[in-house]
Amino acid sequence: MLAPWMNTELPAPARAQLLADAMTVPELAGQLLAGDANNWPTGLPPHELGLLFNCKGAKLARMARELRERHRLRVPVLFALDCAHGHAMSENLGATVFPTPLALGATFDIALVREVGRWTAQEMAATGIRWNFGPNVDIARDLRFGRIEETFGEDPGLVGTLGAAMIEGLQGDPAHPTVLATAKHITGYSESVGGRDSAECALSWRTLRRDHLPPYRHAVRAGVWSVMSGYHAIDGVPCVINRKLLRDELRSQLGFQGFVVSDADNVQWCTLLQALDGTSAEFIVRGIEAGNEVHLAVSGVVEALVAAVNSGRMDVATLRAAAALVLQAKFALGLFEAAAPEPVSQVRTPASFQAAVDAAAASMVLLENRGALPLQPQTRRIALVGTLADDVRQQLGCWTILCRNDDAALELAKQPDAASWTYRAALQAQADRTGCELKYVPACGPTPGVSAQDEEAGIAAAVAAAQDADVVIAIVGDSDHWCGEGRDRADLSLPGRQQALLEALKATGKPLVVVLAVTKPHALPWVQANADAVVCAWSSGMGGGRALADLLWGERDFSGRTPITWPAHVGQLPVNYDRVHGAHFEGFSGGPNQSVPNAPKDPSRDLNIWRIENTRHIDLPADWVHGLWAFGHGLSYARIDLVAAEMLQASWVLGDTPRMQVQLRNSGPRDGSALVQVYVRDVAASVTRPDRRLAAWAHLQVAAGAKVTAELDIHPEALELIDAEGRRVTEPGLFHALVGFSSQVSGLQVLPFEVLSKQRP
Ligand code: BGC
Repeated sequence: MLAPWMNTELPAPARAQLLADAMTVPELAGQLLAGDANNWPTGLPPHELGLLFNCKGAKLARMARELRERHRLRVPVLFALDCAHGHAMSENLGATVFPTPLALGATFDIALVREVGRWTAQEMAATGIRWNFGPNVDIARDLRFGRIEETFGEDPGLVGTLGAAMIEGLQGDPAHPTVLATAKHITGYSESVGGRDSAECALSWRTLRRDHLPPYRHAVRAGVWSVMSGYHAIDGVPCVINRKLLRDELRSQLGFQGFVVSDADNVQWCTLLQALDGTSAEFIVRGIEAGNEVHLAVSGVVEALVAAVNSGRMDVATLRAAAALVLQAKFALGLFEAAAPEPVSQVRTPASFQAAVDAAAASMVLLENRGALPLQPQTRRIALVGTLADDVRQQLGCWTILCRNDDAALELAKQPDAASWTYRAALQAQADRTGCELKYVPACGPTPGVSAQDEEAGIAAAVAAAQDADVVIAIVGDSDHWCGEGRDRADLSLPGRQQALLEALKATGKPLVVVLAVTKPHALPWVQANADAVVCAWSSGMGGGRALADLLWGERDFSGRTPITWPAHVGQLPVNYDRVHGAHFEGFSGGPNQSVPNAPKDPSRDLNIWRIENTRHIDLPADWVHGLWAFGHGLSYARIDLVAAEMLQASWVLGDTPRMQVQLRNSGPRDGSALVQVYVRDVAASVTRPDRRLAAWAHLQVAAGAKVTAELDIHPEALELIDAEGRRVTEPGLFHALVGFSSQVSGLQVLPFEVLSKQRP
């Protein structure tokens, strides 16, 4: 007879409850352990493992079958992997690698990110992996932090919106998800002191609610099944045992209904470095009580929970409720009905590869152009310079290779078409098509350990090639040696002799196009001032070569915009645009006191000082006060202006969605698109708050010579603040909508509008 929980007519929560009721205490406890296949001791009783990560290919197929057959109640194991930008840790599976999350952030394209999620889920499911440890919805803050490339950028609204799109793409119908998504790492992980990974995150609950929790709100609304807790502590309490964070904020305030997984080895840090009083077994129990149901890669989980129930320390109902959340996910995934996974060797298709090319093209940002791009038809000889032009491993990006595992990288390079993915291969193919001669000189790159002599010889060879060329394309940046988990930097200049390389190339007098193959923004004032064009290519995935070739030759236009502010100097970090002002306006420290020409008079103020930015650092040039390239900045080949913008009404009632209309004109000869951005400023409120925040955006297509009119909505949540009592509220009063093409305040048009508590009679 079929067990009652195998009745597919019942909803997943009811089936989970029936199964949980039939389970023994050790079996319930086993559902709360996610083991690491790399360290999984074979021979353990199968009921001791509900979840397994880092297992792939033939091993996964075998373990899936064996563990299920040996489980008393035939409960399947759920397999997990970090697939942050495609099924990327899949060196032997032939999957599609998309640009890194930060690069995807630069697309500002919700549909595109959803599509990346959809492809990723499809390829994961085909390989038997149904739980993704992503997306990362941390917001970028101090750029020295090694994990900036894993974020969608610095703005909570952008990060939350794109995070939600990724979740929707990964999960599909949340009632029957293709894979489970995980929003991580709740929260504040990216704002640690000094940008040092897992150091203290000295954040107030105000900052958490205002900046770090909103992306989780988006994720919960998108139906995310799982959330990962961070390694760090909040207000002295590690996230993994932080009831206020996991129960009060995540479940009660945001309405999360899935399960929380700890980060790997997380409870162990409670006793080790965080030096709390207690044993690892106690923190396993406290984690579950606090709302962290699953422990990842922790030993002793089953023993600790069984002992806690036997001694009366833990109520079995708490254990059962936690296990039921995991079982519910397994039922929703259809794991109990699914056939055992089979090993596969190729999940990438021409269509998914094309999606990777399109994503890469949409993510690249034209930061500067002094006429060097697009390459002109009369360009006949190109010098291509830099080791990063021909480095598939770095191009693929962060969660591609098993934690800098060289064997995995070599496996990737064995894919039959791998040689065609690189910038070098694609630019060579394009040069051949257009009848150009391309000479490639590796010269030097970010990899440490190359002798000074070899690098100097490389630079000399690059200079010789440049002297013979019409244009020089230098691909420079960092590498996995300089970023990633536990790899924070003190300096954000180009590693190695790459700066010297650029200066030597500049001295040839040939037009210099700098392509930044960087995992995150660097401080590059020389590049900004001296290059004839600057393109940020990020870590662009397999489609990056083709995308870059299309963009440099002008066969596609740039639509990417930077989702993160670029610093001019590492000492000014954090330099995010949405700062909270204190005292002193910009001119106070000797900088230009730029007034904004179109700033409206504010009748509620004694002084009509337009709040621009905080005081600059006295030892940096005044015009670096906003960093080098502002959040939202990016150029294109089309000539599109904002000719008019107006609010559809001057006043709105609390809860309304304020609307505005914009008109764009393309005065150039080329069709194109522009990213219209709307920021909101609360003119006067009961507490301090960010000067302005992104509230809406739209990519608008405008044909050559044409005008386009569009309407944009300001979501009512964009008007909210955290009041002195910690509540999320909208305070009626005067607001400004700031409209333009980047966050740089001096380029924004100001549209005042009012929010009333109720309709005027
Ligand atoms: C990282 C997580 C990741 C986990 C599993 C941890 O070290 O912080 O982001 O999901 O490992 O690979």
